[in-house]
Amino acid sequence: MSTLEIKDLHVSVEDKEILRGIDLTVRSDEMHALMGPNGNGKSTLLAAIMGNPKYTVTQGSITLDGKDVLAMPVDERSRAGLFLGMQYPSEIPGVTNSDFLRTAINARRETPISLFSFIKGMDHAISELHMKPDLAHRFLNVGFSGGEKKRNEIVQMLLLKPELAMLDEIDSGLDVDALRIVADAILNAQKEDHMGVVVVSHYARFLDYLKPTHAHILVDGRIVVSGGPDLIHRVDHEGYDWIEKEYHVQARKEEKPKPVLLESCGAKKVE
Ligand SMILES: Nc1ncnc2c1ncn2[C@@H]1O[C@H](COP(=O)(O)OP(=O)(O)OP(=O)(O)O)[C@@H](O)[C@H]1O
Ligand SMILES: [Mg+2]
Repeated sequence: MSTLEIKDLHVSVEDKEILRGIDLTVRSDEMHALMGPNGNGKSTLLAAIMGNPKYTVTQGSITLDGKDVLAMPVDERSRAGLFLGMQYPSEIPGVTNSDFLRTAINARRETPISLFSFIKGMDHAISELHMKPDLAHRFLNVGFSGGEKKRNEIVQMLLLKPELAMLDEIDSGLDVDALRIVADAILNAQKEDHMGVVVVSHYARFLDYLKPTHAHILVDGRIVVSGGPDLIHRVDHEGYDWIEKEYHVQARKEEKPKPVLLESCGAKKVE
C-alpha cells in the first residue's frame, strides 16, 4: 500500500508561478483523472512530482509513504516507484528501446535481470500493446509514429512496475482501437500490481474505459473542484465555462504571440 501526498504545492517555471497551492493524495489501487484547460498546469504538476529540474518547487511538500520526494534526485524518485508517461516522449538516437529498458530495470535491482526474463517480459508487454516486435530493437522513439510513442510509454510502465504511474495525455495520438488496448493494459497492470494512477486526459471517451475513482479539475494552478465520473461527463458536455463562473476562477489563456510588423521584417540595420 503506497500513498503519494502533495500539500500546498507551489511551482514556478522561469520565475513565473504556475502551480499555486495543490493538495492531492493518491493511494494504491486508486485512479485519479486530472483534467483542465490547456496551459493551466497539469503537465507542470507531473513534471514537478517526477523532479524535472526546469520546475522549481517554491512552497509545499510531496511525500511517498512519508518519505520526502522533494529531497530525492529524479533517479531516486524513479527507484522509489514514481513513473511518468510523457505527453511528448523524447527521441534518443543511439540507444535502443530494449537497452534503455534493461538499464532502467537493472538500476532498481540488486542483481541484473536475466536476459531470458527480460526478453520474456518485453515480448509480453509488446504483444499486450499490439506493437510491432522490431520496436524493441530500434532507437528509442526515433521514427516511431505518434501512437507508437504513446504505447511505448506504457510498455515502459509495464516493465518498471511503478507504485504510482502518472500518465500525461497518453491517449493523444491513439486510434480508436489503440485507445482500448492502452486502457486495458493500464487496467490490467493496476489490477496486478495495485499501483496508484494519475491520468491526464482531455477526453471522456478514454476515461470511460478507465473508470477513474476520482476526478480533479485544475484551473490556473489550483485544483478547483474534485469529484467522480459525473464531473468528467459534465466537463465533456459543457466545457470549463461553468467552473470559471461557479468557482470564481479564470483559466489561464495561452499567451498570444506578439504581432510581427511588416516594417520590422523589412528593416535593414544600418552599420
Ligand atoms: N518548460 C517550460 N518553459 C516555459 N514555460 C513552461 C514550461 N512548462 C510549462 N510552462 C508554462 O506553464 C503553463 C502551464 O503549462 P502545462 O504544460 O503545465 O499546461 P497543461 O495544463 O499541461 O496544458 P495542456 O493541456 O495543453 O497539455 C503554460 O503557460 C506553459 O507555457
Ligand atoms: Mg500538458
